[in-house]
Amino acid sequence: MPRGVVKKLRVIEYYFSRRGFGGLYGTLGLDGPWDVKRILGTVPVREDGSAFFKIPANTPVSLQPLDAQGQALQLMRSWLVGMPGEAVSCAGCHEPQDEVSNSRRTLAALGPPADIEPWHGPARGFSFEREVQPVLDKYCVICHDGGQTAPPNLKGGRPLTDWSSQLAGRWDGGGRFTHAYFELQRFVRRPGIEGDRRMFTPLEFHFSATELGQLLRTGHHGVALDPEGWERLAAWADLNAPFYGTWGEIPQFSQEPNGAARLAAVNRRAAELRRKYVPTGPQPDYEIIPKTPAPARQAHSHCASVGKVIVIRALRESQWQKAMASCQETRTAGWSGWFSS
Ligand code: HEC
Ligand code: HEC
Repeated sequence: MPRGVVKKLRVIEYYFSRRGFGGLYGTLGLDGPWDVKRILGTVPVREDGSAFFKIPANTPVSLQPLDAQGQALQLMRSWLVGMPGEAVSCAGCHEPQDEVSNSRRTLAALGPPADIEPWHGPARGFSFEREVQPVLDKYCVICHDGGQTAPPNLKGGRPLTDWSSQLAGRWDGGGRFTHAYFELQRFVRRPGIEGDRRMFTPLEFHFSATELGQLLRTGHHGVALDPEGWERLAAWADLNAPFYGTWGEIPQFSQEPNGAARLAAVNRRAAELRRKYVPTGPQPDYEIIPKTPAPARQAHSHCASVGKVIVIRALRESQWQKAMASCQETRTAGWSGWFSS
């Protein structure tokens, strides 16, 4: 990548699958991920490509270099751990075997290590319902409301009830997702749960290169996502399109007595081992879902875009009435002539 393209690193923590809990198609998401992905936040990358930052000790951390739009330029499918007080460097794992690392002073090394900057709230497992659905509510469901004109239906909160697959994964029934997730993930190319073993080429899975990114980038019916909305969709794709952000909220483990008891037992054991072998902490409870500043649900983002002829042609009259009712200021009687169906 040309120097200067990487603006930040996304710092991700894994809440690893307990033994026997991960599944292919029916567990955290469709075709992955194996593990809950928790975004700890981002850290700055300086103009010379250097970064110097603090990470929590005894914590499995993975990194994604981000561009100015918050899209991962490359995916790290491994992780690193720092012991308390340890200085971990990328060199050691990342330089060619027969070369020594560069000893030049970097810009980042001139100052103190940066703290991780939180990403729209405290560290938490990435959940489609909590991180992505609000973006769809804000920008998409005005048209993608289940009508004929704008498939797919992107309204949230409607669980799939007719799931059937030979590949449902470990858990009977599998696929406890929402329709909106099921529909949208089809447009997001990603490495999947068992991605190719070879190293990826940078940008291979860049969000702008997925069908969804392409569709929105080229001005999909005038929809103009704000930077946060774009970033949220990109982060979702970069993390392998998860649906659930904790193990405990998966219906197999929360609603079925057997599953719930099994999960509680392995989590108790994990906490016990952690207290024993990681006495310095942290002793996190990854099942806690912290409060986040809610992204505005009704921002009338369609009001500006809806005045375009192409948009109006795509809308049924009822959709148009609904859209206009929520943005009075742009109501114009003369527009009704544009309805096509
Ligand atoms: C403990 C060893 C280790 C350390 C330390 C480490 N990485 Fe990695 N990293 C790996 C491994 C192994 C892979 C290959 C996994 C894969 O195929 O994606 C990888 C892959 C990557 C990738 C994607 C592939 C590529 O080379 O572009 C990025 C980006 C990355 N690491 C960034 C970093 C950065 C930045 C640091 C330092 C802040 C770092 N890593 C430190 C082990 C490490
Ligand atoms: C103003 C109306 C409107 C809005 C707002 C809108 N769409 Fe669409 N979308 C459509 C219509 C109409 C279609 C049907 C195909 C076409 O004409 O593009 C469509 C099709 C799609 C498709 C299917 C494309 C295919 O190849 O089958 C996807 C995915 C999609 N939209 C995603 C989104 C997302 C995500 C948002 C919000 C960020 C959004 N749309 C906002 C009108 C809209």
